Amino acid sequence: MTTSHRLALLAAFLLLGACTSDSAAERPRTAEPALVKPTAPQPPAPPVAPTEAALKIGQPVTGLTLLHNVFRLGDRMISGDAPESPAAFDELKAMGVRTVLSVDGSAPDVKDAEAKGLRYVHIPVTYAEVTPSQQLQIAKVVRELPGPVYVHCHHGMHRGPAAAASAAVLLGMLNPAQGVAFMKQAGTADNYSGLYACVAKATAADAGTLNAAPSDFPSVSRPAGLVDAMVKVDQAFDRLGEVRAAAWGVPADHPDLVPAAEAGQLADNLRFGAQSDEAKQLGEDFARHLAPALERASALEQKLVAGAPKEDLEAAYKALKASCTDCHSVYRNKPR
Ligand code: HEC
Repeated sequence: MTTSHRLALLAAFLLLGACTSDSAAERPRTAEPALVKPTAPQPPAPPVAPTEAALKIGQPVTGLTLLHNVFRLGDRMISGDAPESPAAFDELKAMGVRTVLSVDGSAPDVKDAEAKGLRYVHIPVTYAEVTPSQQLQIAKVVRELPGPVYVHCHHGMHRGPAAAASAAVLLGMLNPAQGVAFMKQAGTADNYSGLYACVAKATAADAGTLNAAPSDFPSVSRPAGLVDAMVKVDQAFDRLGEVRAAAWGVPADHPDLVPAAEAGQLADNLRFGAQSDEAKQLGEDFARHLAPALERASALEQKLVAGAPKEDLEAAYKALKASCTDCHSVYRNKPR
């Protein structure tokens, strides 16, 4: 789909949201419609009228050189990929960003961000879903910390847009259909059905619920150790084995399984492992063994997303497996 097609699709969604809104005309036009509502019981998400801010939904931000997949979500949120250098933080600053929210598994570069006067918050989410409590935390960040908030995962295509869209629904900035349209616009692959489902099911949060949510806003959620990361790598690898056994389809006895998400999760946990204290102590040679595994896991994910031919998937899987064995033979299967 071309960008203009995507924009047209998005516009259609926005208009749909506006046209089916019976209550939009009566609703007072406040900046934060959901937040002025009294506390419990929670009302269904009100459709959002296409205000000035709503028209900025899904607008790609152009003219950037270091950041990719960058899209505006109203005045208070921007979604995109991970800033990976001091200069990338400068690009964020030039867009007016004041808070950076990572939902990626890897530890964010808090030092570089803070050196530029940007605050980091880290709420890692999986490819399976943005949990309701994470949605609430993210919404609270957007409500309470200085904005605009730049929400990012690794590539800025799947988890980040889902996190941003779900928080926007909780804050009453979007209705769920608009949230889903935003994800499509950002390029979230259809394979990540859990991410789409959590946005489609999200509802506007009342002020009481938001007030009660924790507001400690951690800048780094400490990654667990290497063993824990490996356990998760292995679980994802096992599930990829099931996918392979089902001729690279969804296994009949495991219908919820999303093949590409498993490869993504595997890559994520390899990254987690790389950041553990143990990995750092093992040093550069260990990192050299880890790099190809990470690349191959990402390559398998891309191929699964793209629906590559079975032979390609098979080759990518075998290459990944070889990188597990290569590293284990040096670092796991004998005393260090
Ligand atoms: C860069 C090196 C490296 C790569 C790549 C790697 N591992 Fe590991 N793995 C380790 C090390 C080191 C340990 C031992 C950790 C410890 O006990 O402290 C380990 C441990 C494990 C364990 C045992 C966990 C436990 O319960 O103690 C499993 C299972 C495992 N890895 C699976 C995998 C799979 C599957 C892959 C590939 C998809 C993989 N690993 C890739 C280094 C690696």
